[in-house]
Amino acid sequence: MAKIRKPSGWNKPKGDDNSRTARDLKKRVKTARGRTVSSARWLSRQLNDPYVGLAKKEGYRCRSAFKLIEIDDRFKFLKPGQAIVDLGAAPGGWSQVCARRADAAEGKGRIVGIDLHEVEAIAGVTLFKKDFFDEDAPQVLIEALGGVYADVVLSDMAAHATGHKQTDHLKIIDLAETALDFAMEILKPGGTFLCKVLRGGSEHDLLSKLKKNFKTVKHIKPQASRADSAELFVLAQGFRKKA
Ligand SMILES: C[S@@+](CC[C@H](N)C(=O)[O-])C[C@H]1O[C@@H](n2cnc3c(N)ncnc32)[C@H](O)[C@@H]1O
Repeated sequence: MAKIRKPSGWNKPKGDDNSRTARDLKKRVKTARGRTVSSARWLSRQLNDPYVGLAKKEGYRCRSAFKLIEIDDRFKFLKPGQAIVDLGAAPGGWSQVCARRADAAEGKGRIVGIDLHEVEAIAGVTLFKKDFFDEDAPQVLIEALGGVYADVVLSDMAAHATGHKQTDHLKIIDLAETALDFAMEILKPGGTFLCKVLRGGSEHDLLSKLKKNFKTVKHIKPQASRADSAELFVLAQGFRKKA
């Protein structure tokens, strides 16, 4: 598995608290009364998560933006002027990263995103509230790309977790395989596919298809991905497009 190094220029937020002890650092949820255990745990985790504060500071809608930032800082596949598809785009963190790195707000490139949920507008990004499994979804995305093949297809799609490990894994693999089939239709030769999967399941078919159709395939666990989460990303680069 490729290990993400701390990218240059990347500063984990320190705040003004270098001199304090770790114990002092931990913000506590002061009034637990009236909260369920899980909502108190969620709030405590948000308050203590450096990526949540950093997202706010840097104008990203969610902490997951930093997963893509870390991966791209290491593997450098997002470039100005590119055509990029973002599958599972809500609330918009990855699309914001793509827009910034492709210079989309300056009219460069073409970025298209889709999600079951509404995504608030992002300059230079065309967004659809739609199920990617809808029969016409691929066509809608292809048309939005305006007749060009994509340089990059990203999928951070995840269905609601049921808590049943095998069911959750099957759901995410289904999303990943459908995303890959779509990517293989619309990627340029040499293109990149990045996709979320879950650790510990058998994504054998997905991996063998990726290895057959891309020059390099890597599993990545970015630092911004919570250590207690089973999520992993598969990065496939150098698409071998068939004539
Ligand atoms: C982890 S979130 C994506 C976060 C996003 N990358 C960001 O940075 O803002 C996963 C998203 O996948 C979306 N999703 C799951 N199944 C989908 C489907 N069949 N079609 C479209 N979107 C889907 C969910 O609605 C959810 O918003």
